[in-house]
Amino acid sequence: MSLILGIETSCDETSASVVEDGYRVLSNTVASQIAKHAVYGGVVPELAAREHLEAITPVVSNALETAGKKIADMDAVAVTAGPGLMPALLIGVNFAKGLAAGNNLPLIGIDHFIAHIYGTFLDGAITELKKPGIFPLLALVVSGGHTSLVLISKDGRAETVGFTLDDAAGEAFDKAAKLLNLGYPGGPVIEKAAKNGNPSKYSFPRSLTGGAGRALSNENRFNFSFSGVKTALLYHCRNLGGNENIDDKTLFDTVASYQEAIVDVLCRKTLDAAEYFNVSSIVVSGGVACNTALRERFKSNTPKKINLYLAEKKYCTDNAAMVAGLAYQYHIKGIHHDLSIDPYARGTDSLFAVPLVACAG
Ligand code: KG4
Ligand code: ZN
Repeated sequence: MSLILGIETSCDETSASVVEDGYRVLSNTVASQIAKHAVYGGVVPELAAREHLEAITPVVSNALETAGKKIADMDAVAVTAGPGLMPALLIGVNFAKGLAAGNNLPLIGIDHFIAHIYGTFLDGAITELKKPGIFPLLALVVSGGHTSLVLISKDGRAETVGFTLDDAAGEAFDKAAKLLNLGYPGGPVIEKAAKNGNPSKYSFPRSLTGGAGRALSNENRFNFSFSGVKTALLYHCRNLGGNENIDDKTLFDTVASYQEAIVDVLCRKTLDAAEYFNVSSIVVSGGVACNTALRERFKSNTPKKINLYLAEKKYCTDNAAMVAGLAYQYHIKGIHHDLSIDPYARGTDSLFAVPLVACAG
């Protein structure tokens, strides 16, 4: 039996979790800073760092207490090393280094992307990961910071095959909500308002899908772009005479149509890539994967021959259980990192290239 304490501070949630044997979640404490950032309509990195600094000690204590464990019971300390907001990552990474050094525990740096994918297989869902024939697996990680398609092969290697050229899908929701004065974060408020609207009332652009007579280069076949749909919304609102002149029905139809454009692109591109790479499974995770319209679209459109795994909603948004869970898969292979690891804000890192040994199951 192995116990790992995971720490996550890459964006605006301070989270700590104790996970047993890579899947049994004994605790998953999440302190959200949403209220602090809401007044600014988005996450302010320096404010996030200050909030993490204040929250991290009580959050870690709470995670250990809820699990009924002490730091001395842990076999390793794991922390999100990147990608994320640098000031925010630094708090978690430095705290984890101190905790590991002070308690003589190994340290494991975790890639937030891969952790989002692994989060789909926590608790009882771990059995799915052990099933033969689950690979190759295509994961759509879709959140406020990322919109990427990651292909994981049978040998556990992960490769990014598609990514957003500008905004992440979650950002498109957040910016739209800001524009329409609906609050922050945008995804949940837009989803709620969209339930009362007609998704086919207005036609918002589906960028990089090759529509409207535009040729699509092979290079961008699996890439995303959400800045166009956001700009289209801005002009749509201006044409209606500005926010103050948009009645409720028009507002509901607008957000329903906007959400539809995003859901349509995410689902279509993922299914296109799934077919191209001839994958056995699709995983959808990250904050935007909480969206019911997106979940339903995947359920109805994914071909029967492909296993579809939608992360449980509580593991879609940022949490440390996915970090501690994934770390176990490195820990059992003796893969630990030394105290000199640096956080990284973007892209991939050598950590990312480490075989996702969990998947070899
Ligand atoms: O994974 P996450 O907590 O943080 C990042 O790693 O970015 O994702 C947060 C993002 C926000 O942009 C938020 O608007 C979006 O996920 N989100 C949603 C929903 N719930 C959260 N987007 C669409 N529909 C939702 N129900
Ligand atoms: Zn995330």
